[in-house]
Amino acid sequence: MFTSEIDAKTQIYGIIGNPVEHSMSPLIHNLAFRRLGMNAVYLPFLVQDIKGAIYGIRAFQIRGMSITIPFKTEIIKYIDEIDDTARAIGAINTIRFTEDRITGFNTDWLGVVRSIQEFLPIKDRKFVVLGAGGAARAVLFGLKKEGGNPIIVNRTPAKGEMLSREFECPFFPLNQIDDLQGDCLINTTPVGMFPDIDKSPVPGKVLSRFGFVLDIIYNPLKTKLLKEAEKRGAVAINGVKMFVYQGAEQFKAWTGKEPPVKEMENAVLKQLSIRSIKSEK
Ligand SMILES: NC(=O)c1ccc[n+]([C@@H]2O[C@H](COP(=O)([O-])OP(=O)(O)OC[C@H]3O[C@@H](n4cnc5c(N)ncnc54)[C@H](OP(=O)(O)O)[C@@H]3O)[C@@H](O)[C@H]2O)c1
Repeated sequence: MFTSEIDAKTQIYGIIGNPVEHSMSPLIHNLAFRRLGMNAVYLPFLVQDIKGAIYGIRAFQIRGMSITIPFKTEIIKYIDEIDDTARAIGAINTIRFTEDRITGFNTDWLGVVRSIQEFLPIKDRKFVVLGAGGAARAVLFGLKKEGGNPIIVNRTPAKGEMLSREFECPFFPLNQIDDLQGDCLINTTPVGMFPDIDKSPVPGKVLSRFGFVLDIIYNPLKTKLLKEAEKRGAVAINGVKMFVYQGAEQFKAWTGKEPPVKEMENAVLKQLSIRSIKSEK
């Protein structure tokens, strides 16, 4: 939407986070609004005070918001209701405002499930999940719901053990990763994300024991982990599809309309390729 097209009826959506300036969510949601001819705009909101931000959302009647780091858990205490899935995951990445009520959802789990299913079935397969933060919760929920067998691996044992109890799956500390194997390794830690692109969460030799490696990081498109996985013959999957699918589910929850998913994915790939060319210069 061009600013000249904004008028008194334009509906406002956005993302709350800190930081938010690198988010690709404005790109995909504004593209979808444009393609569907909707009078709506999606904006980034850099937030310090989440409680204050929620007052603002109510006062300005903002229809929907994506929620990102570091507010996915904290926001729960400021909204009116949370759907059963988001409650089970313990994190919210989406809110919707209707008739004086703010409802929280989680679409990350659907995003990761749909992206894995494009490469391999989940049922009865073994997944080693690195990390025990908010994203890991969504991944574990999705894997269990689809009949997969996840194993949690985390740097801090107390956090890994807590998730192991909640999601009823085994836990191993990160220093025991050498003993593990499975169908797919999933990195949910931020290790290897821009600008620390020379880091990997596990030693390369571990990767030869997995047929598939999914890094939910999408900036850069090919993390060090994925490069090393490919070298060892594994199928490397980046976090773009997960990102686009979780965004598509948000869009549906807010508008009831089907967004142009493939076009959103292409826009993200194009934008990230431009960024990576610029950062190499
Ligand atoms: N593609 C997508 O759509 C999508 C969606 C959501 C998130 N993400 C990405 O997922 C990543 C994690 O997000 P989050 O919200 O889950 O973060 P988080 O809640 O902060 O959790 C991060 C996890 O990573 C572990 N970790 C952090 N630094 C580490 C290190 N140096 N070595 C080993 N483990 C380390 C932490 O371990 P400890 O417990 O030991 O601290 C923690 O378990 C981010 O990169 C985010 O961009 C992608």
